[in-house]
Order: sequence, then structure tokens, then C-alpha cells
Amino acid sequence: MTYPDVRPRRLRRSAAVRRLVEETRVAPAELVLPLFVKEGLTEPRAISSMPGQVQHSRESLRKAVRDAVSAGVGGIMIYGVPTDDHKDETGSQGLDPDGILNVAIRDVIAEVGDSTVVMSDLCLDEFTSHGHCGVLAPDGSVDNDVTLALYAEMGVAQATAGAHMLGTSGMMDGQVGVVRKALDQAGFQDTSILAYAAKYAGAFYGPFRQAVESSLQGDRRQYQQDPGNAREAIRETELDIAEGADIVMVKPALPYLDIITRLRDRVEVPIAAYQVSGEYSMIEAAAANGWIDRERAILESLTSIKRSGAQIILTYWATEVAQLLRDRY
Ligand code: PBG
Repeated sequence: MTYPDVRPRRLRRSAAVRRLVEETRVAPAELVLPLFVKEGLTEPRAISSMPGQVQHSRESLRKAVRDAVSAGVGGIMIYGVPTDDHKDETGSQGLDPDGILNVAIRDVIAEVGDSTVVMSDLCLDEFTSHGHCGVLAPDGSVDNDVTLALYAEMGVAQATAGAHMLGTSGMMDGQVGVVRKALDQAGFQDTSILAYAAKYAGAFYGPFRQAVESSLQGDRRQYQQDPGNAREAIRETELDIAEGADIVMVKPALPYLDIITRLRDRVEVPIAAYQVSGEYSMIEAAAANGWIDRERAILESLTSIKRSGAQIILTYWATEVAQLLRDRY
């Protein structure tokens, strides 16, 4: 019989000692809840690709935000979904102060004020008839620089509506700098920018496209990143920071933990990660089939994202997990 000299198992013996040595804990204040609000709805409508998630009416959005705040979430991120007849080539409803997203921002601010961080999606894809994140050039590609001017205006409209933080998610070159400058010129020096710095063109946004009734044909590979590229993510992120990003985000989360870790070792601003719709729906679907323990899988996925170096996590489970954790610690 041989005996090991060192026994790591000692620190796993009881729940008490495991709790004592736990390295990574997820806290409610680090979770951000993404929410969808659809123009013209009087009742929330289920999103079939994302079981448990809904397109909100203006009224139900206010309630969902109240619930999130009382659960202690760190913030909310609002996505607006216009009716089909309000989509056009340039996504003009996104810039309209009376467009669904800007109206919803005002509603939410009236409801919760500064008690949480109210974020809004700064991108045109929900509002364009072709579903791309910017306007199209005659050859069908997305015209970077024409789009930038629209983002600047959209950013000011969202800040005017009261958003605390703008999520630049379109992956246009120079977007953070242009939005920062427009905000500053309009007197919104204190409105911050959450830059979707490393955003990959992957398959995990599928359920979201249904949630926002995206009109997209084709893909976004001319502006979002190739899944195999890691150094490019560092370049993108450093550019965003130089342009004035307050927080940088990696998206999706779980398939890109290595990117989060690399960035953590390199940049000093807070890093967020977006546990996207596909990550959500995979766990929900497997759990619905009885293949995995839903709650444990959710917590394990969030713990892994945090462990990799993300300080803030956007997750559709934010309110539920915040409630769960409050009872736990
Ligand atoms: C673009 C945007 C997308 C998501 C967030 N912002 C869609 C896309 O890039 O195609 C996806 C989020 C998710 O899948 O949960 N405005």
C-alpha cells in the first residue's frame, strides 16, 4: 500500500470547507439582463426559440425591470423590435426619439431611475429591412462610414432618452470613437460605452434572430470576427479602448473563454461576456429533455465565464440566478 503525501481532497470533504476555499463566486450585481420589447404588443409574447423568454410589451417590460432590480441584478440591456412596416433600408426607427427602443428606454428610466444600470443596444439590425447592422452600399456590402454617422445620431438619441450605457454591437470600424465624440459634443460626457469589442460571427445567435424577428439573409462575416481568430480580438479590443470604450465585451461567452482570459491579462478596463441566445437555448433544450440538471448547468456555465476573467456577464437568466444566489450566500 502506498500513501500519497499530499491530499487535495481534504479541502473537498464537506460543504463547509468547499465553501471556504471556493475561488469563484458569481454575484447578482455582476449580471446584466437582456430584454426584448416589441412595438405594438399589449401582452408579452413567448419566443419559441428561447423557452422562458418573451418579447415584452411596454408595460410588461417595466415589470420585468422592476423584478430584475429587486433581485439585485447589476444592469439591464434593452433591445427594441419594431413592427415590420417600421423597418426600412437605413433603420431610421432606431434614430427616431419615438421609435420603440427610445420609448422603452424612457419608460424604464421612469420606472427605475438610477437604481440599476440601464443599457441599450446601439445597432441598426433590428430596424433595417435587410437585417444588417448598417446601411448597404450599392454592391450589397455594409457601408462602414455611412453607418457610423447613423450610429452617432442613434447614440445621442438613446442618451437623450436616458440610457446610462450604450452597447455598440455593430462591429463597424471606428464606431466607439464616433459615438464617444457625438455624445461628448451633445453634452453626454457621463453616458458610458459598453463596446462589443470581440464579437464573433458564429452560429450561437440563431435564437436571438427569431427573438428580434431579424430580416437577415446571409451572414455577418464581413463585419463580425472569424471564430478561429484570437489575436484579432486583442486588436479589436485595444482599438475600442483607445477610442474610449469604458467596458469591453467578448461575445459569445462559453465558446470563447480563452479570448476572455487573454484580454484579462492585457487590458485594465472591466471585461464583460455575453452568454448569448444559443448558449441559453442549448441548456434550456437539454434540460427540457431531462438530459442535464438545468440549475446546475446554468450556474456552472456562469461560474466558468467568471473564472475565465469576465467581471460582468450578460445572461438571460440574470433575474432567476440573482434570486437563487441571494438565498445561497
Ligand atoms: C446585434 C446583436 C445580436 C446579438 C446581440 N446584438 C445579433 C447578431 O449579431 O446577429 C445576439 C445576442 C444573442 O444571441 O443573445 N444587434
